[in-house]
Amino acid sequence: MNIIGISAFFHDSACCLLQDGCIKAAAEEERFTRVKADPSLPGRAFKYCLREAGLTIGDIDCIAYYEDPRKKLARQLWSGVLAHSPDLMQRIDPGHVERQIRETLGYDGLIRYSEHHLSHAASSYYFSGFTESAIFTVDGVGEWATTTYGMGSGHRLQLFEEVEFPDSLGLLYSTITSYLGFGVNDGEYKVMGLAPYGKPTYADKIEKLISLQKGGQYRLDMKYFGFLAGNCMYSERLPELLGRAPRREDAKLGQWHADIAKSLQVVLEQVQLDKVNYLYERTGSDNLCMAGGVALNCVANGQILRKGPFKRLFVQPASNDAGCAIGAAALAHVALTDERPGNGKLRHVYLGPSSTNRQIHSFLESTSIRYKDYRGDTENLLTITARQLNEGKVIGWFCGRMEFGPRSLGGRSILADPRRTEMRDRINAMVKKREGFRPFAPAVLKEKAQEHFDLDHDSPYMLETCQVISSLDLPAITHVDGSARVQTVHRETNPRFYDLLTAFEKVSGCPILLNTSFNVKGEPIVCTPEDAVRCFITSDIDLLVIEDFIIDRQENDFDRLKFILMHIERSDSGIRHDVYTFI
Ligand SMILES: [Fe+2]
Repeated sequence: MNIIGISAFFHDSACCLLQDGCIKAAAEEERFTRVKADPSLPGRAFKYCLREAGLTIGDIDCIAYYEDPRKKLARQLWSGVLAHSPDLMQRIDPGHVERQIRETLGYDGLIRYSEHHLSHAASSYYFSGFTESAIFTVDGVGEWATTTYGMGSGHRLQLFEEVEFPDSLGLLYSTITSYLGFGVNDGEYKVMGLAPYGKPTYADKIEKLISLQKGGQYRLDMKYFGFLAGNCMYSERLPELLGRAPRREDAKLGQWHADIAKSLQVVLEQVQLDKVNYLYERTGSDNLCMAGGVALNCVANGQILRKGPFKRLFVQPASNDAGCAIGAAALAHVALTDERPGNGKLRHVYLGPSSTNRQIHSFLESTSIRYKDYRGDTENLLTITARQLNEGKVIGWFCGRMEFGPRSLGGRSILADPRRTEMRDRINAMVKKREGFRPFAPAVLKEKAQEHFDLDHDSPYMLETCQVISSLDLPAITHVDGSARVQTVHRETNPRFYDLLTAFEKVSGCPILLNTSFNVKGEPIVCTPEDAVRCFITSDIDLLVIEDFIIDRQENDFDRLKFILMHIERSDSGIRHDVYTFI
């Protein structure tokens, strides 16, 4: 049974292939088109999924779409959103989805639609490894639902209550994000990163925006919000309430902004804790599954686990709408087979494309870049890389299959020594160009995690924060409140990254690396060797380790790199072409 799952036409379009209930491949469209958060039909990700499994379109039994376009249109008409965005009308015409799938992908088989929050719920529960679990989904909005409560048992999954638009925790968070001068849909991480610098002195004011109701319900006080009436997320009443004009995007951030961010974070956590307590009373399960954009708030997730009633928590690593592709495919699998998909707990998210050494070698040879070839000598490659890290070098790391979801987890990562104070500023200056207050995350050998972090369970997806308790000084990955967003690295799922950490520990005594996503500001995470070399050239990364090859900036002068960049940008051949052009 081959099922393709698709999420598209909003942001973070993605495609996955579920084969006999197991995820064989999954990727976001942005990684191929190089358009950040690309909302278009994921045609390139679709082709990749087929190729990964050696299938053609005739082998597909069903395409599962992640939401109900008719219901969504009804809500958008009700809320008047279309009046402000005529382009959207065409994109969300209910027939548009089917036409695109049929015409663009050339598919004439069964298409199945699931509701948006059901797709989120399924993306978490079916891959949690729990035989039964409570389910909590929270995002901006799907069709009408913004928050849902449910229960999964065996192959059955049911949502028994929902909060409907415009009441939405996700939209509350996005509204304050916008008020603080950050972009909606990608600035929420920044607000979460800013919060630990602040005090919750405005929590009482933020509480005026949202009122807790019985059961799973809550209400937004719409007089403070503008998203129903126009293009602005907030009304003029919000600045009145908080006592300051909204921050312009380029204006300086101060303590006041951090205090607002902290106050918002505290209120979000209070509401979520109240609602998961309710969910526990309703379901009696010790297990909790979460998904939806708000489930990427790793600080709130940590609070839910520490202060909430549930003993075990599983958060879908791709909790944004990209993950809905997996959920929709899982629901189709249940509908068509009456069996549970997932095959136990999700083992890893290395579900994207990889490149062979032969492909990489042929690409490098097609340029005049100077590189060293370590094929057959992996141990030496790891030792050299570990030594360079220990000497303060910043490494671009390209290894195996690309990650699915928003986090880089050692497949497409930028790595550095977490003990060096200057590393945060250096990486920000050379590649990230992002706000200096945002923390970087640590990756740690699984067996060593408890020595350095207050964590009593695995955290392979960087989805929760905990306190740093290490005897080592780790300024580059420790946030101002002493916390870190930890990734535990497991030999079974990424042996080469595990071995690199082991090699680094051998030379430095530190089993931890700073791990951040391999991209420059405003671009998606790199996908192919070409993307990796391009990112290496346009940033100031010292060393690029790309499978069994190492490229050292010192061995390539500026003119040479500039010439190579022009060559890559002109060329439409090479690995990208080789891997993605077929059928
Ligand atoms: Fe969503």
